[in-house]
Amino acid sequence: MHDLKKYIEENQDRFLEELFELIRIPSVSSKEDHKEHMYAAAEWIKEKLLKEGADLAEVMETEGHPVVYGEKILDTSLPTVLIYGHYDVQPAEPFDLWKSPPFEPEVRDGRIYARGANDDKGQMFMHFKAFEYMLKTNQLPCNVKFMIEGEEEIGSPSLENFCKAHKEKLSADVILVSDTSMLSPDTPSITTGLRGLAYMEVEVTGPSHDLHSGLYGGAVDNPLNVLCEMIAKLRDENNHITIPGFYDDVEELSKEEREEMARAPFDLEAFKKGINIKKEAGEKGYSTAERTGIRPSLDVNGIWGGYTEPGAKTILPSKASAKISMRLVPHQESKKVEQLFKDYFESIAPESVKVKVEFLHGGEGYVSPTDTVAYQAASKAFETTYGIKPIPVRSGGSIPIISLFEKVLGLKSILMGFGLDSDAIHSPNENYSLEQFRKGIETIPYFYKYFTEMQK
Ligand code: BES
Ligand code: MN
Ligand code: MN
Repeated sequence: MHDLKKYIEENQDRFLEELFELIRIPSVSSKEDHKEHMYAAAEWIKEKLLKEGADLAEVMETEGHPVVYGEKILDTSLPTVLIYGHYDVQPAEPFDLWKSPPFEPEVRDGRIYARGANDDKGQMFMHFKAFEYMLKTNQLPCNVKFMIEGEEEIGSPSLENFCKAHKEKLSADVILVSDTSMLSPDTPSITTGLRGLAYMEVEVTGPSHDLHSGLYGGAVDNPLNVLCEMIAKLRDENNHITIPGFYDDVEELSKEEREEMARAPFDLEAFKKGINIKKEAGEKGYSTAERTGIRPSLDVNGIWGGYTEPGAKTILPSKASAKISMRLVPHQESKKVEQLFKDYFESIAPESVKVKVEFLHGGEGYVSPTDTVAYQAASKAFETTYGIKPIPVRSGGSIPIISLFEKVLGLKSILMGFGLDSDAIHSPNENYSLEQFRKGIETIPYFYKYFTEMQK
């Protein structure tokens, strides 16, 4: 693949023009009124795969947003790599914090700025260009299938049924995904773990209507005060989650495994500086990398109620609500955690209020072994383009479909991400470095090559 780097350099401008077309489609999966954009993005991907040389590409219906399926089958006796990615993005709000509009991509200082620049349009697109290169130069060594979904950012609710219904179609030897990060631009890593998620919404109701806080204040429980007190009870002074049974299924890593983890470079000062905080925090007895990589966490994502407009209004609100998510580790089941949370949250509510607890979505964590042919192929691919062996790292993020793939299709995934944790994904000014984009396109074909060679 001596011509690969040259191919990327010579075609980079076109690659970016193409990617920018996709980014300009605001395919925000969580918004009801974006349905047409979901189809537009799916159609765009289908056309792109066909143009690049797929034998077949189609937009397939699900109970929710469509999936794009594509394939290039060279010979059924060869191995098959299934590429997964997602074309949906997170909402771009608050718009006023963006330096350039989120759906009008712009390159500044060697980085693409836009919603989806990294997560996952930019990363997914590297696979399309690697595919184009391998086909054009006759170097595709095995079969390829693509499954690109549009519901990842809302927890992939329709994908379990989709995978069950199309098991045969999705059959492959390995799944390859670029939707995670690597340690730093010169420290390649392979993500070997993801956390699961249980996302809850709670509502606390007190009096039947808002009350005058002078006439009633001090004599009636205020649901906002109560909600804050209940939330405070979810963790103790050591940042340990207090929900009974919560840690029952949490896998405790051995001393050796933790020592192995600690060998991955982590710069705490840079971590704090990057997000402008003076002090990190988390569960007592664990390092920062362990707190996100191997331990569960609980966070309030939003809280509301009462009067929030400018100026003062003296009321005691009738209702208060919050969105609370728990990141889970492998073996913790999101459905079980949902029940534990519900039972505990209801049990700590004072008699003066009613509580409603709803499960919004969830998914299971994932661990990937490093002693497989696929991992070795990925490792060798990174070593070829970066000159050093990548480090296995457990990430704190979630991609719910990865554990579904294992459960329904019986397939392990290789998480070969080229993003950086500092790329501001889900935030204003999300960005992706052109260097990472190029390196990704350069590394992917080597995975195909080594994976196919190692199968023989
Ligand atoms: N690509 C991310 C997950 C990710 C990012 C993993 C960086 C590791 C490193 C994905 O699109 C994502 O945001 N997932 C959601 C899942 C949720 C909405 C069910 C998450 O982690 O919040
Ligand atoms: Mn993603
Ligand atoms: Mn995301």
